[in-house]
This record gives sequence, C-alpha cells and structure tokens, in this order.
Amino acid sequence: MRTPLIAGNWKMHKTLAEASELVKGIREGVGGISGVEVLVCPPYQHLFPIAEAVKGSAVKLGAQNAHFELEGAFTGEISVPMLVDAGCTHVILGHSERRQYFAEDGPLLAKKVRAAVNGGLTAVYCVGETLEERESGRTAAVVERHMTEAIGKDVPADRLVIAYEPVWAIGTGKTATPDQAQEVHALIRGLLASKYDQATAESIRILYGGSVKPGNAETLLAQPDIDGALVGGACLAAGDFVAIIQAAETTVAMPS
Ligand code: 13P
Repeated sequence: MRTPLIAGNWKMHKTLAEASELVKGIREGVGGISGVEVLVCPPYQHLFPIAEAVKGSAVKLGAQNAHFELEGAFTGEISVPMLVDAGCTHVILGHSERRQYFAEDGPLLAKKVRAAVNGGLTAVYCVGETLEERESGRTAAVVERHMTEAIGKDVPADRLVIAYEPVWAIGTGKTATPDQAQEVHALIRGLLASKYDQATAESIRILYGGSVKPGNAETLLAQPDIDGALVGGACLAAGDFVAIIQAAETTVAMPS
C-alpha cells in the first residue's frame, strides 16, 4: 500500500509574509490528517523560514530545482547540500517549465536526479507530453523517453517519486480525465517494472499534476496508479490545498 503524497509547487509565488501565512494555514489544516504525506516546495529564499514554520508538523519541505554539482562557480544556482542544509527532504526535477523555458534536457536531468538522491534527497521527477505530442499520438513515446533519459536502476527506488504532468493540463484548467491519467500512470508503472522489478515498481509513488483542484482531486486520486498530486495553482490557497489533502485521506479510507 503506497502512502499518498500531496505536494505543492509554489513556483515563483509569494513574498515571505504571504508564504508564512500560507504555511500557517496548511499546518493548521493538516493537524488531524493521517495516512497522507504532505510536501510544500516554496521558492528558495523562503526555505529556511518555512523549515522553521513546519517544524514538529507532518509537513515536509522540498525545493523546485537543484544543480548537479556539489559547489562551484555556477552563478544563480543552488546545490543539493544547500537544500539539505535548509531542511529539504525532496526536490522537484524536470518540471516541464524547466524543460521548456530553461532548456533542461534528458542528460542534464539524469545528472540532477543522481545528485539529488546521492545527496540524500527524494527526487520528484516530472514527465509529460505537450498538447501537440498528445494529439499526434506520441504520449507514450514521450513519457518513455523522459523516463529512460533520467531514471535507471542506479537511482534508489526509495528516493524516487515520479510526477506525470501533461503540459497541456498545467495552469490551463484542463485536467486529464481520471482515465487518461490512469492510462499513463499504468504505463509509467510498467516502465518502472522493466527498470527495477514488479515489486519495486509497486512501491514507487506516481503523482498526477495539472489543474488538480479540490473538485477533481478525489476522482483522480481514486485511480489505482495515482498515488498523489503535484499541485500548482490550487496550492497557493491553504483552504484549497488542505481540501486536496483531505480528498487523498478519503481515498485511503476507501476499500480497494
Ligand atoms: P497547476 O496545478 O497550476 O496546473 O500546475 C501544476 C504544476 O505544474 C505542478 O508542478
């Protein structure tokens, strides 16, 4: 049984005052929740104060990116040891916005994933197709390429989470239907089984991301291979994010 993970990707949002307010609301909202792992991924400069703000709660801290080198002359970058120092346990890698706007590609992401897991972080590795790729029937090929480029048996399975985020569903209000998402999640599970083995593949969480909201979370999370959500817009309001976490708690309680 996989524990669902609900992760909030704050992207480039929130001043420190706003971030503190948001995390306070999340902390209060998740007080009585059990059986769900919760992760917040604020901008870098808020990591230390947010680490303090979540101390003693079930809320974990992640970053939105990392460099693959331990240190060096890489102006504007941040290293895995720095993220660990700030209290991070997770890092999002390969987000489509990084691929699209910052030209991050497979070979680079392969190095980043290894730097993250070797440095003690759990990598939340994102994969997913654009609208054009979906409409031309290339979804499976693109997802398989993203998986093959950066994930291999040398990546410890207990430090790995996969996030399927169809690019056409991110920030657009268009969510993949539960069936569309489940189909790709099952494909990813199969790819993991071929890289590791079936039992290991069954242990790795695969999150769905792309316009997840309180109103659609439960049906998505009820799918057998959807083990949580990577939430963008709806994680910026504590009430919405907590409602998604509650939806995950409901699905845990459902008989499978
Ligand atoms: P939205 O939830 O705003 O569509 O963003 C999803 C996402 O990109 C999370 O990483």
